[in-house]
Amino acid sequence: MKKIAVIAGDGTGPEVVREALKVLKEVARLENFKYQTESFDFGAERYMSTGKILSDEEVDQLRKFDAILLGAVGHPKVAPGILEKGLLLKLRFDLDQYINLRPVKLYPGVDCPLKNKKPEDIDFVIVRENTEDLYVGAGGFAHKGTPHEVATQIMVATRHGVERCLRYAFELCRKRNDKKMLTLVAKTNVLTFAHDLWWRAFNEVAADYPDIKTDYNHVDACCMWMIKNPEYYDTIVTTNMFGDIITDLGAMIQGGLGIAAGGNINPQGVSMFEPIGGSAPKYTGQNVINPLAAICAMAMMLRTMGLETAGDRVERAVMKVTPKMKSMSAGKMGYSTAEVGDLVCQALTKD
Ligand code: IPM
Ligand code: MG
Repeated sequence: MKKIAVIAGDGTGPEVVREALKVLKEVARLENFKYQTESFDFGAERYMSTGKILSDEEVDQLRKFDAILLGAVGHPKVAPGILEKGLLLKLRFDLDQYINLRPVKLYPGVDCPLKNKKPEDIDFVIVRENTEDLYVGAGGFAHKGTPHEVATQIMVATRHGVERCLRYAFELCRKRNDKKMLTLVAKTNVLTFAHDLWWRAFNEVAADYPDIKTDYNHVDACCMWMIKNPEYYDTIVTTNMFGDIITDLGAMIQGGLGIAAGGNINPQGVSMFEPIGGSAPKYTGQNVINPLAAICAMAMMLRTMGLETAGDRVERAVMKVTPKMKSMSAGKMGYSTAEVGDLVCQALTKD
């Protein structure tokens, strides 16, 4: 029996999670596995009414689950940084979800902003380190508010944190069995301490993976190639901050945030899956948001829990639904949020 914690969260989060759970129910029936879900009300509403964001005890409760499905975090009435740090980043850090896995895959029939690029051209995966770098929150102010104010924000790379991320990426690249090429994306020409550590660790770990070709891009060049030659990539491994940025670029070339899914993975612990897009306040409650990113995140969740065939089945169903939709964008799909969920459910059985 798989135990799944559900944090629907803010804005359109509950709407997309509802569809992901609808598809989960159907695929569990077809693939014959059992699961139970428990919902948690963490998010902006609870914060605004009680002042609570997420306590250590609540994180401990989540450790008992096999996985977490997350909708979205963020609300226009809550100052930026509060929920992001107190909820999303706290979960990633406290549960040591040291990998942020973000596939960039153009599905059939999905409109791509890049001229002449087809599904076979856009199919790679970004492994973003998820617990270090500029995200650790180290730094501070001196003389705040004065003309002599100093602000620092420290970039942290540890050998342990970098190496475990690199090893995950090499293993994934081997498993993908595509071009067998792992590209490190960093900025070694400027970040001569932190990214020197990455570079040395990358080359040392590579010795354990003679079957994988190693490759390197500076992050600015990577942005260029992702637009010009996305077919070049197989697996990318990168730092937390650069990964944050290039995965939004990745989301756009795969058809937008409506379809982009990600997993915050602790290979030895509890992982959390989420659509990359945010809470989309202006579409909240209108039944127009695209649930496919959440459905794809749920498929990643199934695979990570060891239910590979179920995860594959969901992804195949999504690939049968994308050609029927007018657009991946909210309000332009040609279907409502719930109808897209229904279409995926129906497509699960037609193999
Ligand atoms: C993401 C988001 C988060 C991040 C924000 C909301 C803190 O942009 O998941 O990519 O920067 O990691
Ligand atoms: Mg981001």
